[in-house]
Amino acid sequence: MSVPTTTLPSGDELPVVGKGTYELEREAVKAPVEIALETGYTHIDTAEGYMNEAALGEALAGHDRQEVFLTSKVLPKHLNYESVIEAAKSTLVDLQTDFLDLYLIHWPNPAISIRETMDAMATLKSEGHVRNVGVSNFDLYQLSAAQHVSSVPIAVNQIEFHPYLQRPDLVEYCQENDIVVEAAAPLARTEVLDDPVIEKLAEKYDRTPAQIVLRWAIEKDVVVLPRSTSRGHIEQNIDLFDFELGAEDHARIDELDRDEPVYDDRARSWDDDVWGMAE
Ligand SMILES: NC(=O)c1ccc[n+]([C@@H]2O[C@H](COP(=O)([O-])OP(=O)(O)OC[C@H]3O[C@@H](n4cnc5c(N)ncnc54)[C@H](OP(=O)(O)O)[C@@H]3O)[C@@H](O)[C@H]2O)c1
Repeated sequence: MSVPTTTLPSGDELPVVGKGTYELEREAVKAPVEIALETGYTHIDTAEGYMNEAALGEALAGHDRQEVFLTSKVLPKHLNYESVIEAAKSTLVDLQTDFLDLYLIHWPNPAISIRETMDAMATLKSEGHVRNVGVSNFDLYQLSAAQHVSSVPIAVNQIEFHPYLQRPDLVEYCQENDIVVEAAAPLARTEVLDDPVIEKLAEKYDRTPAQIVLRWAIEKDVVVLPRSTSRGHIEQNIDLFDFELGAEDHARIDELDRDEPVYDDRARSWDDDVWGMAE
């Protein structure tokens, strides 16, 4: 199955469905990724914080690197200039590759200058270690500041996005600024799947609830990164391109917005190791 792509400012093509790997730590990432590659996925999303880059590198070693769009993310504690460079190089070693297709700032860190971080991202890009740079979990205010000081285009903002958290202002801003929106937790970690509206639409289109939710996001030009360990789910999550939601049905899902996150609640424990503030 060939997955449609969206074009990044660099001209690179980003497949609109990617394989999420959060919580698939160490060896647990291998089988789902193998299944995904067999099924036709050509886009994989990881992060240094997911504790699976080395195992993922082993899983990808037998595959043609040029056939996979590979994204990783730098932890917020590593956003000083030198730390970004070091973290990226360590990620490249673990993933057994000499470039990333996309490198994201995993979370904004209010304790570290975004100018410094974007300078490091630009260096990684100019040296060929990463082909595209972006951010994740940036709100409009943080994103516009990052754009303001960055010498390279911010190609992507990966944010929590699903029918219960639609963030129309942020999505519109990104799309008007040529920044691709990637949906983290596109299934709201399954919370939207038993919504009565979604269930009804699944019945009407003879699809699964997950397919309805993912198709709806893609129709909004949002790239989806569903995570699954099950072969059946992995297969259905990419089988989205031979049906369309009618405009009224699409709009019924729009009406489900509750502005309710499953993970991005902006509550922070600043002593958590990922922030590097406890030292
Ligand atoms: N940048 C960030 O801060 C951030 C945050 C969150 C997520 N992400 C990225 O986005 C990816 C996806 O988000 P997520 O992992 O949080 O959650 P998600 O993809 O919204 O939900 C994953 C859950 O959905 C289930 N599932 C998957 N396909 C299904 C289907 N077809 N039918 C029924 N259930 C299904 C999975 O169970 P089974 O294994 O049983 O299928 C799993 O329990 C992550 O893996 C990560 O790559 C990034």
